[in-house]
Amino acid sequence: MQYSKKVIEHFRNPHNQGRIKNADAVGQVGNIACGDIMKIYLKIKDNVIKDIKFETLGCAAAISVSSALTDMAKGKTLEQALAITKDSIVKDLGGLPPVKVHCSMLGVEALHQAIEKYNNKI
Ligand code: FES
Repeated sequence: MQYSKKVIEHFRNPHNQGRIKNADAVGQVGNIACGDIMKIYLKIKDNVIKDIKFETLGCAAAISVSSALTDMAKGKTLEQALAITKDSIVKDLGGLPPVKVHCSMLGVEALHQAIEKYNNKI
């Protein structure tokens, strides 16, 4: 399987990995097919994502996607973050092997879920 240079870089040195204590919202999704789990923590102020971290129990692609996604979402408004699609992450990563494209769904779903929870809370 061929991973792009960027996927390998994110996998070796993931950005924004960990958890946020007192997060304003947390999203967690699992992939039924492979059993992998992704959790996204958000710190939000004035409708902007001030901080974002992830914990991923998953494959190399899922970890790279989480790292790229958190980079893309940081500093964005909630509306801009909701507009991030799995295609934009795959593009940012320079592509994913076809059998790994489904792994990019986890990140987007976890982020959307966290934002929805936050919106329902306020
Ligand atoms: Fe499960 Fe990639 S194989 S998320």
